[in-house]
Amino acid sequence: MSITGTDLSLAANLLLQGKLVAIPTETVYGLAANALDEKAVLTVFEVKDRPFFDPLIIHTYSLDAAKEYADFGIEPLLKLANTFWPGPLTLLLPKLSVIPPIVTSGLNQVAIRVPDHPLTLQLLKMVKIPLAAPSANPFGYVSPTQPAHVEKQLGHKIDYILDGGNCSVGLESTIVGLEDGKICVYRLGGLAVEEIEKIVGKIELRINNSSNPKAPGQLKSHYAPKKPLIVGDLKQLSQLHKDKKMAAICFGDEKLKSPNVTVYNLSVAKNLQEAAINLFKYLRLIDDSDADIVICEELPATGLGLAINDRLRRAASKH
Ligand code: TXA
Ligand code: MG
Repeated sequence: MSITGTDLSLAANLLLQGKLVAIPTETVYGLAANALDEKAVLTVFEVKDRPFFDPLIIHTYSLDAAKEYADFGIEPLLKLANTFWPGPLTLLLPKLSVIPPIVTSGLNQVAIRVPDHPLTLQLLKMVKIPLAAPSANPFGYVSPTQPAHVEKQLGHKIDYILDGGNCSVGLESTIVGLEDGKICVYRLGGLAVEEIEKIVGKIELRINNSSNPKAPGQLKSHYAPKKPLIVGDLKQLSQLHKDKKMAAICFGDEKLKSPNVTVYNLSVAKNLQEAAINLFKYLRLIDDSDADIVICEELPATGLGLAINDRLRRAASKH
């Protein structure tokens, strides 16, 4: 039997036995384990090669289910959950004691969300347990947006990949919490800041590069492909590196025509949602190509463009 399929009962049974299953969400694929089973959660860290100081997001079927694991007494955050769940929003909330400390790396807050994918929602309803699920990629690498991405890197290490097709958002969830009485964004993601501000007013960005981050998605180098990646003006960069084979990531008009440049256009129509869907797919395609380096331009700094630029900058900082 293939490791990838759509057998929900099989996926549910494996999870209830403490095994790992990759699950589709609207953002990226997650590597899921029973969040209440410490041994299963430990395996998630091992399979991803993820440091134990980097806590996991838990996923539940509904806001009501989430209330069994986190304290929703913070009114504006409850409002956000009511507005955007199921959806690409993760909330940091005081954790209730049923959640084992390994899930939150010993922190008092738990990251929690209701994902917007029909298969995974059905699965969560069947298992009646919260699922701890980081993105289903080796630590620090680009998140998977298709079952084949998971299969390629982790297929030999996990029991099942639930095939929910391509992710419809393509960027990880936006992480929001409360600090010093202010609503803060810790990771830019699939829910635009502007949308959140419509509900709770002005929010603060705390997404700084750091060696001791609140959310390790804040690590300066993260979401990184293997090839060197440089962000800047495409024409200048292509001149500077004209002796190399280049992959150029652009948005809208294609500015380069040269035999040693392969162009990957995130969205010819300049649609930021389309660009988000294509970003991780392209980074993986380029890693598998014969390009020596990746050059890319920044996108408009609005809506999902902010999250995409953030990923590009972090991908660039590795080199
Ligand atoms: O869209 C997503 O969020 C995907 C899908 C699978 O839900 N998940 C995801 O998980 O991106 P992961 O583990 O790759 O990224 C979660 C981020 C990490 O940067 C982690 O440090 C942060 O959330 N995080 C998790 N729990 C936290 C906590 N209790 N306090 C602070 N940060 C936390
Ligand atoms: Mg991740």
